[in-house]
Amino acid sequence: MSDNRPVGVFDSGVGGLTLLRELDSFMPYEDYIYLADTARMPYGTRTEDEIVAYSEQLIHFLEKQDCKMIVIACNTVSGLLPQIEKDIKSTVPVVGIINYGCVAAALYVTYNFRIGVWATQRTVDSQVYRKFMDNFDPTVKILTESCTDLIPLIEKGKVGSPEMRRLTDKCIQPMRNEDIDTIILGCTHLPFIKTIIQDILTPAVTIIDPAKRTAVLCNKTLMDKGISRKKHSAPGTKKFYVTGDPDAFLKTSKLLIGDMATRVESVDVGQ
Ligand code: DGL
Repeated sequence: MSDNRPVGVFDSGVGGLTLLRELDSFMPYEDYIYLADTARMPYGTRTEDEIVAYSEQLIHFLEKQDCKMIVIACNTVSGLLPQIEKDIKSTVPVVGIINYGCVAAALYVTYNFRIGVWATQRTVDSQVYRKFMDNFDPTVKILTESCTDLIPLIEKGKVGSPEMRRLTDKCIQPMRNEDIDTIILGCTHLPFIKTIIQDILTPAVTIIDPAKRTAVLCNKTLMDKGISRKKHSAPGTKKFYVTGDPDAFLKTSKLLIGDMATRVESVDVGQ
C-alpha cells in the first residue's frame, strides 16, 4: 500500500523551510505542501487566541488540500497544540516541532544540565520546553531568551549581513552569561543563522535543531498509521502557498534555501 497524498507543513513565514528541508532529506519520496501565513506574521508577538484561531484556518486549508498529515513547523504554534487540538478535531495526524525528541537530545548531550532555549516571546512565555523537560528531569535548568527581534531580518533573507551578526550578538548576550553548554533552537527561523550562533557561543555549546528529530517523528507517525508513500517511489513534489506576497516569499526562500521553491501561490485561508 502506498498513500500518495501530500504532507502539509506550515509556519508563519520562511522559518518552517528549515523543517521542510529535513523532512525532504529524510523522506524524499513524499509530496509536500508548504503554507506560510506571511500576511499575519510574526506570530511571536501575537496573543494566544490569535495564534490558535489562525492555526485552525491553516490546518483546515491543508486538510482541504487532502493532506494525510499536518506538520506544525512553528514553535510558537506548536506550544499551543493542546489548545488547538481541543478546538479542532483534525481528521489527520498533527505533529508539532516541539516534542520529546529534541528535549531528549538536549538532555543527552548536556554535561552541566543548563540548557538554553532561544525562542519567540510567545514560546518563552508558554514555558512549553520547561514542561516537556519536567517529564524527564525537573532539576535541569532551562534558560530562555527571546529571539523575536531577529525574525524580521531573517524573513527578509538578510542572514549574512553585518546587521544580523550585530543583532544576534546583542540578543544572545544574556544567554552567554548563563553558563549553558547546550542550546535548543526553539524557533524555526534560527537554523538559518546557526553558523553565526555557533560562532558567538563558541564550539563549547552544542546546538540542537529540533527539525531532525521532528522529521524522524513524522516518519514514525506515517509508518504507524500505515500512510507512508512507498520508499522507492520517484522523488516527491513540493507546492508552496502564502497568505501574503508570493514574490517576496520566493525571493527570500531563494536567498535562504536555493531552488527549493520555484513557484509560490497566494491563497486566502479566511484571514
Ligand atoms: N518560526 C516561528 C517559530 O518557530 C515564529 C516566527 C514568528 O514570530 O512568526 O516560532
